[in-house]
Amino acid sequence: MKLGLIGYPIAHSLSPWIHNQLLDIHGMLGEYQLFECETDGFADKINEMKADHIAGFNVTVPYKERILPYLDELDDAARFLGAVNTVKLDKGRYVGYNTDGTGYLASLVDRHADAVESPKQVLILGSGGAARGIFYALLKQGIKKIDLANRTIEKAQQVIDDLSASSISQALSLKEAEEKLVKYDLIIQTTSVGMSPNHEQTLLSLSGITKDTIVSDIVYRPMKTAFLREAEARGARIHYGHGMLLHQAIYAFQIWTGKPTDASEMMKAFEKKLK
Ligand code: ATR
Repeated sequence: MKLGLIGYPIAHSLSPWIHNQLLDIHGMLGEYQLFECETDGFADKINEMKADHIAGFNVTVPYKERILPYLDELDDAARFLGAVNTVKLDKGRYVGYNTDGTGYLASLVDRHADAVESPKQVLILGSGGAARGIFYALLKQGIKKIDLANRTIEKAQQVIDDLSASSISQALSLKEAEEKLVKYDLIIQTTSVGMSPNHEQTLLSLSGITKDTIVSDIVYRPMKTAFLREAEARGARIHYGHGMLLHQAIYAFQIWTGKPTDASEMMKAFEKKLK
């Protein structure tokens, strides 16, 4: 089975390691290749992949939206989000999916089973593609009380409007969010702030959280971000970002092959690889 990833830059991607492990676990022959390409070569690369009958591939920055015109069909999440991270060749047709939000949710429930029991008050920090996917997945899960804080507050409001959540959700500035942290049970950091090499940066101060707060960061390099270190120092429960990467990959692999995988089997090896 020919699988792969298209994006730029992707030389350091962990996806080949994850998917080659998944092929091994399921005793399947195949290979997960990197189809790295710069913007002006994108159309040619997709046509090349179609001609080569690549059975399934992931899509990452900067092509999650640009891939849309090349697809024949979209699943609900991809259509709603206008972004695709997984493509499957199905009877000669390319179908687009988005497993980011469901992957995040699975990783969260895996570690903190009580995190999504209602009613929960959730704060999402950031308003980019990742925030949108997570917001969508939480709404689908039945969690309604979700606020969004962003450096550019208009973008937070746009996400809320696009998801028809304005009757309950509120758009906040980062400063406003910082002052209200005590009211949230779950805080999810979805921006790239804190990612290596800027690993000492944090988006806001967590001085307002309580010991019952779950603080989650989708950054996984480093695994324990400065944001999570501060949360831990304040006694809160923390949730690492690498689980989302693993779970969205497991969902993608299931879309391609029909085979589910127990994440706990792979998690330890994955954590070792990340350290
Ligand atoms: P992704 O698809 O990974 O979510 P994105 O769509 O580029 O990435 O979104 C990036 C998010 O990180 C945005 O919410 C962005 O805030 P703005 O909307 O104000 O641009 C946020 N972000 C990135 N760098 C930031 C920084 N240095 N400080 C605060 N927010 C930042």
